[in-house]
Amino acid sequence: MRNPSPVSLDKQGAVGLIRIDNPPVNAINHDVRVGLAEAMAQTARNPELKVVLIVSTGELFSAGADINEFDRPLAEPSLQTVQAAIETARIPVVAAIRGLALGGALELAMACHYRLANKNAKLGLPEITLGIIPGAGGTQRLPRLVGAGRALDMILSGAPISGSEAASIGLVDEVVEGDLLDAAMSFCRRLIDDGLGPRPTCNRTVRPGLDDAAVAEALHKHARSLKGRSTQALVIDAIRAATLPFAEGLAVEAALAQKSLAMRESLALRHVFFAERAAGKLDGAPTEAKPFEIRRVAIIGAGTMGSGIAIAFADAGRDVIVIDNAQPALARSQEFIRSAYASSVQRGRIDQKTAEERISRIAGRTTVADAADADLVIEAVFEDMDLKKQVLASLDAFLPAERLIATNTSTLSVTELGRATARPGRVFGLHFFSPANVTKLLEIVRGRDTSMEALQAAFQIAKLVKKIPVVSRDAFGFIGNRMMLDGYFRESEQLLLEGASPAQVDAALKQFGFAMGPQRVSDLGGTDVGTKARIQLYKRESRPDPYFVIADRLTELGMLGQKTGRGFYRYENGGREALPDPEVIRLIEALSAERGIARREISDEEIVERCILALINVGALVLEEGIAARASDIDVVWTSGYGFPRHLGGPMFYADSLGISHVAERIRHYHKKLGHYWQPATLIERLASAKSSFEEWDRQKV
Ligand code: 3HC
Ligand code: NAI
Repeated sequence: MRNPSPVSLDKQGAVGLIRIDNPPVNAINHDVRVGLAEAMAQTARNPELKVVLIVSTGELFSAGADINEFDRPLAEPSLQTVQAAIETARIPVVAAIRGLALGGALELAMACHYRLANKNAKLGLPEITLGIIPGAGGTQRLPRLVGAGRALDMILSGAPISGSEAASIGLVDEVVEGDLLDAAMSFCRRLIDDGLGPRPTCNRTVRPGLDDAAVAEALHKHARSLKGRSTQALVIDAIRAATLPFAEGLAVEAALAQKSLAMRESLALRHVFFAERAAGKLDGAPTEAKPFEIRRVAIIGAGTMGSGIAIAFADAGRDVIVIDNAQPALARSQEFIRSAYASSVQRGRIDQKTAEERISRIAGRTTVADAADADLVIEAVFEDMDLKKQVLASLDAFLPAERLIATNTSTLSVTELGRATARPGRVFGLHFFSPANVTKLLEIVRGRDTSMEALQAAFQIAKLVKKIPVVSRDAFGFIGNRMMLDGYFRESEQLLLEGASPAQVDAALKQFGFAMGPQRVSDLGGTDVGTKARIQLYKRESRPDPYFVIADRLTELGMLGQKTGRGFYRYENGGREALPDPEVIRLIEALSAERGIARREISDEEIVERCILALINVGALVLEEGIAARASDIDVVWTSGYGFPRHLGGPMFYADSLGISHVAERIRHYHKKLGHYWQPATLIERLASAKSSFEEWDRQKV
């Protein structure tokens, strides 16, 4: 039996009410397009109808075209066919937008003759974030409604604008404050009373078209998010075509949209979109999670991380108690929190009243017992096993047994920490990344005893603080830091020992697409942070020499990076500019000589290839060892937490795009040349001989 259509048509007097009901996000898939086409055909046949109103059920109008359908030829009717039926209808068609109208949904609304939206609606064309161009008339109708320059800005940004802003630029006709459906019905009746007919967007013209100055300005404005990308060139070509007769412009757009869909960056960006959503699902979890209510959170340790985590929860509207046994640390934390909010106000992200309300949610205390009535306690004290065990044990003594305890450790065993309490099932890692109130990634660390219920609560916590969760098993460095230390950073240090300079390594990897090269990252975080992590590592495992001999020597010398004015680079007068330091080069040369490493010229290509292959190889080990459940989880970790270019899809997707046989062959090549640690992971050898891929490996697991 055919499922009921996700689109219904109701006759309400002279208004034909078309309703889209396709949970969870009212995506415009094939069934919706069929439903819309049938509904429009029925309204055309009914002479009693004078206006058509299109609305959606639920909290949002629609998230746009169904992204799952992009991998195959689109079945008719296409969205363009539906839009043509709407735009050429003999009676006016109105769209009423509640919540989100993104991509194809906004394009659908732009083909309607009139548009209403509630004040807080969000209207946007986010296609560029998926590496595609709006392909259902968006590049042709948006310029007709708001002008070519404004359209370019909106499409290149990909960010939605509010209903009110949309009204101010002519994208919607009216903003609704109260009930949207009531207001839309009276708007329709007014159209009938005033005898207003269809008003096809396609009949408008675009004058002036896109000029070079507007293009240069928009590209400059969005340069950061578009670094290394190519979709923007197609967007510009499509908007330029908006001055052509409508049908010709649409044809240009359709050809460019097809081209964008086939581009590697689009495949990569769509992969990351679905990878992020898959990462939020736990294998073997019951479908219905027990709701986890948080009213109050206690954070132990008011340092860099504790303060950032406090902001994240205050932003989510929760009361926070920050506890530190050092009064000066508490004072510094409060100062940090105040200045973070002041900067949000200054940047126009929130208003002063909201900032004050959030600051007032965060209270500082000096005794751990003040955590007693928290629903969740997050421990973020110094990275020291004995200290953390002591803090957890003392918490355990008074915190009701059902409450959850999370640790923000980045290197210690979560299992061992959990066993310092009488509730190991309710202890897990919440590995936030600095700055904790900004960085999207949250590694949820599953200790050996962590219960499924606690993990499901951890996912709800991630959602509350708007983080992207990825589950990691409890092993040194979890997913991200393990790959960074054993793969990416280690290789960059090896290249320094063989002859490259910090500036050359950083420039090559920046050119590849990382926001910052590894040596700059070390200097920013502090070379001592890595050294301390390695002290913890050596308590559990060993690593063959050379392993971070340069960074550890810098730490020994007190050259801790930006904070001390010297690290891999020099920083003058407390500035951020990384200047080459000849003394560091001499220090590296001495370390090379001690190990009998002959220094040589190294090409940028070799730097990038070795750092990325090393990252991929350790990623494969992380999968083999079951630390990450899916290759796509690793891609999420690296794109949302470590600055791996999103448009390359993450290290494992990138490996697939290079071809696993090629990856295996190049790793073998370096194994021959450099020996020991360049052993290809068994999983890479297996996938290469089966002519398979990480994507296929993930799929087979599902
Ligand atoms: N197509 C298909 N599935 C979609 C979808 C879409 N456009 N948008 C969301 N979904 C799915 C998600 O994959 C997820 O599925 P799952 O439960 O099976 O994992 C489910 O809907 C819920 O999504 P989220 O978990 O992301 O829910 P949130 O509430 O956190 O976010 C959202 C909702 C803001 C709408 C977010 O999902 C989003 O940004 N979606 C993508 C929007 C977009 O890029 N639209 C443009 C599409 S391209 C287009 O329209 C082309 C046109 O030019 C022809
Ligand atoms: P930090 O040194 O800035 O702050 C630690 C705070 O804990 C200090 O203010 C200290 O006074 C307080 N503290 C120590 N003992 C205490 C006790 N018994 N009771 C209450 N407070 C106590 O450290 P940071 O950088 O914030 O790190 C905290 C944790 O987060 C560590 O486990 C670290 O490994 C982890 N982490 C750090 C990241 C970073 O980039 N800094 C990233 C991810 C995790």
